[in-house]
Amino acid sequence: MKKTKTLKFKETVGIDIGSHSIKIVHLKKLHDGFKLLNYEVRPTVPQGIEYIPSDLRPERFAPVIIEMLRTLHINPKSIKHLVTSIGGDNTSIKQIKTIFLPDEELESALFFEAKKHIPISGSDMVLDYQVISVEEKTNNMNILLAASTKEVLNDHTNNLVSAGLTPNLVDIDSLAITNSFALNAFVEDGVYVLLNLGAHRTNMVIWGPESKLFARDIPYGGYNFTRDIMRKRQMEWDAAEEYKFEWGLTDAPGASDVKTISMLDISEKSTEDAIVEEVRRALRFYVKEAGNSDYRKVYLMGGSAKLKGLAEYIQDKVNIPTEVFMPFINVEMPEKFQDKKDPQLALAIGLAMRME
Ligand SMILES: Nc1ncnc2c1ncn2[C@@H]1O[C@H](COP(=O)(O)OP(=O)(O)OP(=O)(O)O)[C@@H](O)[C@H]1O
Ligand SMILES: [Mg+2]
Repeated sequence: MKKTKTLKFKETVGIDIGSHSIKIVHLKKLHDGFKLLNYEVRPTVPQGIEYIPSDLRPERFAPVIIEMLRTLHINPKSIKHLVTSIGGDNTSIKQIKTIFLPDEELESALFFEAKKHIPISGSDMVLDYQVISVEEKTNNMNILLAASTKEVLNDHTNNLVSAGLTPNLVDIDSLAITNSFALNAFVEDGVYVLLNLGAHRTNMVIWGPESKLFARDIPYGGYNFTRDIMRKRQMEWDAAEEYKFEWGLTDAPGASDVKTISMLDISEKSTEDAIVEEVRRALRFYVKEAGNSDYRKVYLMGGSAKLKGLAEYIQDKVNIPTEVFMPFINVEMPEKFQDKKDPQLALAIGLAMRME
């Protein structure tokens, strides 16, 4: 997905265009690390009324990006280093192992290899790769494949161009959160589970500095938590959203579940349980695939990481210490932002910190 351009830049802008909110992070490059110049998070969905994701039009993004850049005093034409990302159903990440191949053969060989591993039709596929390592004994190569479709990439580019931006580096969501984590955590050995909990989906990454990268999206997020509250507490959308922000998974004092006949639907699992089940399944798969079960921590990021009670719930069910990830270890925070550390920025920070 990368279009390599060697540019000397002092400032960098990361834009995470989520289905619910756009996150823009503006960083200054320091000799060592970065400094946060400014950031903004702005929703692009109607406030107070329930929305059906498929009703929302992609054209809604550009006007919001334009407004946000104006508020942040960023002239879109003067951005020297812009990093954005794509994600969703038609993007995929896969770490594979192949026999050693010289550069000139690698690209075409990987295209065929990718078709075996990645559920995107060949003619429509856009592929990028990175050689992570070459094993000394066997000479086998560990390669990270990133694939998407021309359509996803075109839609993304169109959004940026409509907002007056010049597309530059385009990453993949799950790689950007891995980057954010690797650069902003005291990562020891072992394996980490990253969950970027958005509105309609959660990017899950299982990764360790010495262990394989596995990424998969889980089709649940904040939207589903609000739906659960509507059902469980018999509330309308706006009241359920309010309840979610205030109480999350916990019971408000005096609140009790409203039990009605319609509640007797045992097939309807809660969102937190559905997420836990997907995580457990992935952990089992990872042990088989990577031969490593040295799980150290689960880190939650994204807007829905702020849901009260969620970290505790996941920790209890998955049995791995779980906490909300604050991606600011290598990002100097000016005084005015000190109490505004926000896990919803994790992906955008991972983008802005990408160097090439
Ligand atoms: N304090 C909070 N408590 C609970 N939920 C929150 C809080 N703040 C934001 N959210 C929820 O987080 C979600 C938005 O998060 P985020 O910006 O990470 O999503 P997105 O990137 O737009 O979505 P996606 O990645 O699914 O396309 C919304 O569902 C919103 O209701
Ligand atoms: Mg998101």
